[in-house]
Amino acid sequence: MPKKEKSIKLLLIEDNEHDTLIISKTLKSSEIIFDIRSCRSAEEAISIIEKNPEEFEVLLVDYLLPGKNGLEFCKIIIEKKLEIPIVILTGKGTLEVAVSAIKAGVSDYIIKDNQLNFLEFLPYTLRNAYAKQQEINARISAEKELLKNQRELKIIVEEKTSDLSATVKKLSEEISKHKKTQKQLRNLIRASQNDRENERIKIARDIHDDLGQILALLKLNLSMVKSNIPPSEKNSHETLNESLNLIEGVIKTVQQIAVELRPTMLDTLGLKDALLWQCDNFKEKTGIKYEMNFNKKTINLNKELSIDIFRIFQEALTNIVRHSKADKVSASFTEDKNSITLNIEDNGIGIKESSINNIHSVGLTGMRERVHSWGGKINIQGKKNKGSILNIIIPVK
Ligand SMILES: Nc1ncnc2c1ncn2[C@@H]1O[C@H](COP(=O)(O)OP(=O)(O)OP(=O)(O)O)[C@@H](O)[C@H]1O
Ligand SMILES: [Mg+2]
Repeated sequence: MPKKEKSIKLLLIEDNEHDTLIISKTLKSSEIIFDIRSCRSAEEAISIIEKNPEEFEVLLVDYLLPGKNGLEFCKIIIEKKLEIPIVILTGKGTLEVAVSAIKAGVSDYIIKDNQLNFLEFLPYTLRNAYAKQQEINARISAEKELLKNQRELKIIVEEKTSDLSATVKKLSEEISKHKKTQKQLRNLIRASQNDRENERIKIARDIHDDLGQILALLKLNLSMVKSNIPPSEKNSHETLNESLNLIEGVIKTVQQIAVELRPTMLDTLGLKDALLWQCDNFKEKTGIKYEMNFNKKTINLNKELSIDIFRIFQEALTNIVRHSKADKVSASFTEDKNSITLNIEDNGIGIKESSINNIHSVGLTGMRERVHSWGGKINIQGKKNKGSILNIIIPVK
């Protein structure tokens, strides 16, 4: 059998010179290569090993030694945790020594016999002890490596976790800053909407009170003039009647403008009937058919939100009249625990993508501002020659 390349470094501790000789000879002639060093006592062996603990890969120790015996030697070496396997040689009939040695942590034992049969398996016993220790060493270093990796991993995880929590913290700070700005913006928009509404109320009042009164007075004056003109003056009567009709028309127009500027019917009728009033008015003026559905008998929203819904509806219907060429409108207003939804669909030419995204579309921008000021969502879609859909969802508490 070819000899293996690597030699096993052995320290033989044996006081009997004859035994040292035959053991060395046996090992040298074995198929296993041993690099043998020998000494005669436990004390000598301890001092050799202490000088260079890594020099030996297996120790073969005789039990009967001068000074400390083999077992005592084994215990000292094991205590030092040098991880060098030890094989103890005991004489015949000293099995209990072998047992104590194994208990103490010795790798193996060999019982010497007078016929020297033990020499036959001595190299293998030594090699097994060596191999077993190599396995243990490999396992220990693998465990150490694993532990090291685990520690490194733990450090990396800790670093990453702290990086991550710093990022999360920064992000949540950014989010809350953003939310704050958004809230400020909403409040600003809301304030400007309120200002616009108040301005409209003022203009409506002025138109109604000033212009309305002047027109009423003008009508009265003309009626008086008319009553003073004899019926025979037909031409004058005709002119006066025409003027009175014109004034009547202007009064109606002024009333209409005032109503559109100030949705008073919201106060008197409530949102549901005010929306229906808009639909009737729209149908009357344009001839476009409508369908309007509500999921509840009454709508109970705060005044500001009601005005916004009313205005959005007004703008949507105005856009349909002006741009859609539709002949039918379907609308619905749905109110549930968490939100209100307004949906308006027409069957016209369909709003173009470019119009939806155009920031100069003042009417649509106004709708968006009103919806966003309540934290709501608005969705506008158009399909060429099929129509347009306006959908609004506003959260309510
Ligand atoms: N229902 C619709 N069908 C087809 N096109 C529409 C519809 N509604 C709006 N549009 C298109 O979107 C554009 C923008 O509408 P927006 O209401 O913003 O402006 P506008 O109605 O033109 O002017 P205003 O500022 O007086 O409202 C319109 O000019 C029109 O081209
Ligand atoms: Mg418009």
